[in-house]
Amino acid sequence: MALLTADFEFVSSFARRSAAIIIEPGKDYFVESRLSSLASINACASVPEFINLLRKTPTSHPLHGKVLDALTTNETFFFRDIAPFDALRETIIPKLITQRAAQRSLSFWSAASSTGQEAYSLCMLIRESFPQLADWNIQIIGSDLSATVLTQARAGRYNEFEINRGLTPALIKKYFTQEGNVWTANAELRRMVDFRPMNLIEAWPRLPIFDVVLMRNVMIYFDVPTKQTILRNIRATLHPQGSLMLGSAETTINLDSSWQSVGLGRATVYQPIGSA
Ligand SMILES: C[S@@+](CC[C@H](N)C(=O)[O-])C[C@H]1O[C@@H](n2cnc3c(N)ncnc32)[C@H](O)[C@@H]1O
Repeated sequence: MALLTADFEFVSSFARRSAAIIIEPGKDYFVESRLSSLASINACASVPEFINLLRKTPTSHPLHGKVLDALTTNETFFFRDIAPFDALRETIIPKLITQRAAQRSLSFWSAASSTGQEAYSLCMLIRESFPQLADWNIQIIGSDLSATVLTQARAGRYNEFEINRGLTPALIKKYFTQEGNVWTANAELRRMVDFRPMNLIEAWPRLPIFDVVLMRNVMIYFDVPTKQTILRNIRATLHPQGSLMLGSAETTINLDSSWQSVGLGRATVYQPIGSA
């Protein structure tokens, strides 16, 4: 059923204002399907009735955060798209080990980390392929807008469907503990990642200078000016020799000319122009 234009516009402008998420006109079904369970949890007979409730609810109320959670797409899985992880293992981290031999410290950011699979994949890759980093200072930050996904990420808890997406039985056995239908990342893995709330379209908090930023499958939802602002902000928090990894449908090309794209195997990595 199509929503009233005013209802659709209320939700789409809320998503745009709060998270820069664009819901194109005509995507009424998307709004209906994403909000229908919140409507019933809040005792509303329909999505339009729920949107009315939302209109009357102060923006500081947690209901707005829940609506934003429902409108975001949290799809993720372990070692997603594999090629960026191959590039990290074969080229990027070996080069960083040489460049940072004196400091013995490396920093990574999984921005828009969703439920944590990307950050934990990076931890497993480091533990499996770079035992020489065991006594280095490795900082891994995961961040997301959604409190719900961050709670799951911090707990490192995955159901059967999630654990079987991207992990081999050997990695599951080594890094997760099974209790019934829930697999929990072991304490060492969980200690390696600091998950923090962060809305990419708000003023950025003070961040470390990162060697690698993984910001995959999130800019795709943003309009051009928002992508440009985010790329400028990443540039300011990335080491001059650092690498940015985007989703396979994302690029800096035609958005920000201060990046060069570098092909590493099947992956494309973006580096600040002028980096060695
Ligand atoms: C499709 S998931 C991508 C997860 C992971 N990076 C990957 O590629 O598998 C997109 C994530 O971006 C988050 N997100 C959407 N808008 C955001 C914003 N404005 N600030 C921070 N995170 C945002 C969502 O909550 C969601 O968890």
